[in-house]
Amino acid sequence: MKNYSDMRKPLMKTINTRMKSKFEIVLSIFICAGLYFFIFTGNLYSQAQNQKCLICHGKQNFKVQVEDGSVKDLFVDEKLIKGSPHINNTCQDCHTDVVEITAMGHKKNIKKVQCTRCHYENNPAGAPETEKYKEFQESVHQQEILKGNTKAPVCQTCHGKHDIAKRNSMSGVDLKKRIIKICGQCHLDIYSAFSTSIHGSALLEKNNPDVPVCTDCHGEHKIRRTDDTASTVFKTHIYSTCGNCHSSERIAEKYGIKADKFKTYESSYHGIAVQFGEKRAANCASCHGVHDIRSKEDPASSIHPNNITRTCGKCHPDANANYTKGEIHLNSHSEDSGSIFYISSTFKWLTIITLTLLAIHVILDLFRKLKHKRHS
Ligand code: HEC
Ligand code: HEC
Ligand code: HEC
Ligand code: HEC
Ligand code: HEC
Ligand code: HEC
Ligand code: HEC
Ligand code: HEC
Ligand code: HEC
Repeated sequence: MKNYSDMRKPLMKTINTRMKSKFEIVLSIFICAGLYFFIFTGNLYSQAQNQKCLICHGKQNFKVQVEDGSVKDLFVDEKLIKGSPHINNTCQDCHTDVVEITAMGHKKNIKKVQCTRCHYENNPAGAPETEKYKEFQESVHQQEILKGNTKAPVCQTCHGKHDIAKRNSMSGVDLKKRIIKICGQCHLDIYSAFSTSIHGSALLEKNNPDVPVCTDCHGEHKIRRTDDTASTVFKTHIYSTCGNCHSSERIAEKYGIKADKFKTYESSYHGIAVQFGEKRAANCASCHGVHDIRSKEDPASSIHPNNITRTCGKCHPDANANYTKGEIHLNSHSEDSGSIFYISSTFKWLTIITLTLLAIHVILDLFRKLKHKRHS
């Protein structure tokens, strides 16, 4: 056993000699206070700066009537900003053109906030700048903005204003639900088709965290036009976007789906054609739909036996019930494929047996020749 009081002695001694000098005690207090001030000074500074705006905008019922007669709520809840990543920013860091303030307020027609004032590569403000955000510049939405389309989203349309959330501040399911609402506010018809699909209903009704939402298929910032060859949902890329999940054994096992749907498609005539860049051949979405994908048991599904002829008929005009009878996701290694499996297995064993007999024949022949040589 160690003697703890003995161990403490040298330590107490050094502390005593150090603390003997009052000057040193005062100095260490100053250093601590300095550090504290250094860390919280940004926050205090922004709070003091914000007060000159909050005199008016901090009032709960601060509203004005605009020209068209409607009432505009101008109350700003500072708590929201304090809970956001912009805790250390002042109001004027974002609202840069609100400069001169009088008792009546300030100039009208305040400009829209430019988030890219800080969020750009190597910015001195310390605003995060990742590949994903840079990709917004190449997106269909940014292209539409540059064309003057006022209906396209800017940063704050998706991220909000004073209550902007930090990345990973939300659980998977809550974030996914929020994303479909954000995109859905403009793409209404797609939102409604998606919410009743197998993926959408699993999210909304069963809180399934593994289903795809808009950003899983289209990307978060680099959302491109669907006919752009670099889009993740371009006709010849869709199968690999679906394959991100439908080739996963983990997801297949968890939800009782077969993981071979991806592989069997890849080796089908359509799959091979698509891999050669044939845009006209069927991809996963040509048969299953896009935002309204449903289980084959669902009578509204494009792959329900009642609808499959119409689905193939989009591209094979003379498709009839007979044409669509064959297995689509044919896996010749699975017993579920019926006669195809047995024919394929028979051929496999026939080949193995023939090759084995051939090998035995060659070896016996070799032995016979060797024996013959030794005798002569
Ligand atoms: C004396 C009261 C007062 C003070 C102080 C004040 N504002 Fe305002 N603010 C107003 C009024 C009134 C309006 C509405 C102007 C109008 O009719 O469009 C307004 C409008 C705004 C708007 C635009 C709202 C919109 O959508 O058109 C912003 C942004 C804004 N203020 C930011 C600030 C900031 C930032 C500060 C501090 C630097 C500040 N205000 C200080 C009274 C004030
Ligand atoms: C991270 C940037 C940011 C900061 C910091 C910020 N705002 Fe805003 N504010 C916005 C955005 C974005 C909007 C939405 C209008 C727009 O797009 O310009 C907005 C809108 C407003 C409006 C119009 C009413 C409304 O709610 O839409 C007022 C008033 C306002 N801000 C005042 C303030 C005040 C006061 C502060 C400081 C306490 C502040 N803002 C801090 C980004 C910011
Ligand atoms: C069409 C909607 C949309 C638009 C427009 C948009 N974003 Fe995002 N952004 C998202 C989504 C969705 C995420 C992922 C959220 C998460 O994982 O928490 C994200 C994540 C982020 C992040 C955090 C993670 C990262 O990758 O750095 C930042 C910062 C960000 N966006 C900034 C911006 C800026 C700045 C703009 C404008 C130039 C912008 N965003 C435009 C939807 C959008
Ligand atoms: C004055 C500079 C400035 C402006 C303007 C600004 N930001 Fe930021 N933003 C920052 C800084 C700095 C951080 C990092 C804060 C931290 O990490 O503590 C940040 C963080 C973020 C995050 C969190 C990223 C993450 O990885 O968690 C998002 C999202 C974001 N900003 C979006 C926006 C949006 C949207 C706007 C426009 C409405 C905007 N910002 C305007 C400086 C700014
Ligand atoms: C499972 C993957 C997937 C999900 C989830 C998804 N999409 Fe799509 N989306 C696609 C594919 C694939 C296409 C291209 C279809 C084509 O080639 O015509 C597409 C096309 C689009 C188009 C352009 C064509 C049109 O129909 O107008 C828009 C806009 C769109 N999606 C928005 C959304 C929104 C908003 C959400 C979320 C509510 C969403 N998508 C969810 C895969 C997806
Ligand atoms: C403020 C409205 C708005 C929001 C929010 C929005 N979009 Fe869009 N989106 C548009 C507009 C406008 C266009 C260009 C016009 C068009 O082709 O429909 C567009 C185009 C698209 C396209 C290309 C369509 C094509 O024809 O190829 C896709 C894909 C898309 N958006 C997906 C998304 C996704 C995913 C989200 C959410 C992360 C989202 N949008 C959020 C307004 C919005
Ligand atoms: C982010 C992962 C993910 C992506 C991407 C994805 N799915 Fe799914 N999909 C799932 C999950 C998880 C389920 C199971 C949902 C449930 O039943 O709860 C599912 C279910 C399905 C079902 C129903 C299966 C059954 O047995 O009922 C079909 C069909 C389907 N997906 C097709 C597609 C197609 C086609 C695409 C591409 C356009 C796609 N999925 C993209 C995760 C994904
Ligand atoms: C030529 C049309 C066609 C193409 C292309 C196609 N499928 Fe299918 N898929 C079907 C049909 C028909 C069924 C129902 C019969 C079956 O299970 O084989 C089905 C079944 C499925 C199922 C099980 C659905 C259920 O309710 O049991 C999933 C999951 C699936 N496909 C995913 C995919 C994925 C992922 C792709 C692309 C990599 C794809 N499919 C490509 C026609 C197609
Ligand atoms: C998006 C259009 C599209 C859809 C939907 C589609 N196919 Fe095809 N299919 C093609 C194209 C294009 C080819 C020729 C591929 C090639 O170049 O080998 C093809 C080839 C075939 C072939 C090979 C023999 C032939 O006729 O050339 C069969 C069999 C076939 N499809 C069956 C089906 C069945 C069954 C369905 C429905 C479950 C279906 N297809 C849905 C476009 C489609």
